[in-house]
Amino acid sequence: MRGLVLSGGKGTRLYPLTYTRAKQLIPVANKPVLVRVIETIRDAGVAEIGVVIGQTGAEIREALGDGSRWGVAITYIPQEQPLGLAHAVKIARDFLQDEPFVMFLGDNVIQGGISGLIRDFTNHAWNSQIVLKAVDNPSSFGVAKLRPDGTIEQLIEKPKEPPSNLALVGIYMFDRHIFEAVNAITPSWRGELEITDAIQWLIEHGYVVSPHVHTGWWIDTGKPTDMLEANSYVLDEITPYIDPSAVIENSEVDRRVTVEAGARIFNSTIHGPTIIGEGTLIENSYIGPYTSIYHHVTIKSCEIDRSIVLENSAIESPNARLYGCLIGRNVTVQPRQARPRTLTMNLGDYSNLWMV
Ligand code: G1P
Repeated sequence: MRGLVLSGGKGTRLYPLTYTRAKQLIPVANKPVLVRVIETIRDAGVAEIGVVIGQTGAEIREALGDGSRWGVAITYIPQEQPLGLAHAVKIARDFLQDEPFVMFLGDNVIQGGISGLIRDFTNHAWNSQIVLKAVDNPSSFGVAKLRPDGTIEQLIEKPKEPPSNLALVGIYMFDRHIFEAVNAITPSWRGELEITDAIQWLIEHGYVVSPHVHTGWWIDTGKPTDMLEANSYVLDEITPYIDPSAVIENSEVDRRVTVEAGARIFNSTIHGPTIIGEGTLIENSYIGPYTSIYHHVTIKSCEIDRSIVLENSAIESPNARLYGCLIGRNVTVQPRQARPRTLTMNLGDYSNLWMV
């Protein structure tokens, strides 16, 4: 069994953060989503992983290297144009050879890992296994219609009128017959070779595609609100620890808080689940549940809840409580001392600001 991770795409719905960083490298609970994907595949016993990269390829290569840090061997597969998930399978043929493989979209986070799914796929004579999840907004995904006996009647990509609420999760298992399918289909209205169409082709040509309905949580981290949601789910699951090199003085830090190496916390209250990154300084502040503060951040005179702050940012907000924020790298938020006491901002393209 091999792994195929898709890590291309522009991440336009996460602008402005994704102007300067691949969306799969944005951390959730202080670990990039893509690293969570690699670890999930490794934990299911798959050690040879192909990573399909696009225009952010250099950054992805730098972050993952040869994979040895995670005990896997990574082969990079450049995709010149974002021509679709089925196109990515096509160009990965040399890497995949004729082995069965699991394909995992590099921006998906799922509860409970994939060991059980891989075991089921290995133990059955299925040509493919797909994962489905009941969602409120099926039109944003590939959608499956099942027959009363649980087999798949139809798969359709982002339908305007969805035939069910079962979305296709970005985790798929295939045997070599998928190559016949990806070579047979034609591009969709959005100009992409859709993996959903390729799987529909398998069904129509008599191959066995088994659906697994996932009951735990699953997030496709496409939008800022998805990042915050994934962050809260993952924070709920990690086992908290306080690194011995952290300094905590005159502060209340509850047992669901993780404090990483070299972090310093003074005169503050921190309620978990929350993670405070390496070398970060928290002073005279309140950090509320479901917040991830990444490495080398400074937070002073601030109350912040359910948010993600990335590295090297400095936040000081004595008069306004921050909630539901996604704050990038090297950002400064500070009180304006001079008069007039206005709100003054330097926002990048596609930034969002919500005023009181
Ligand atoms: C892709 C697939 C879609 C699937 C989704 C899961 O959508 O085309 O069928 O439901 O991933 O994350 P995309 O992210 O390309 O919009």
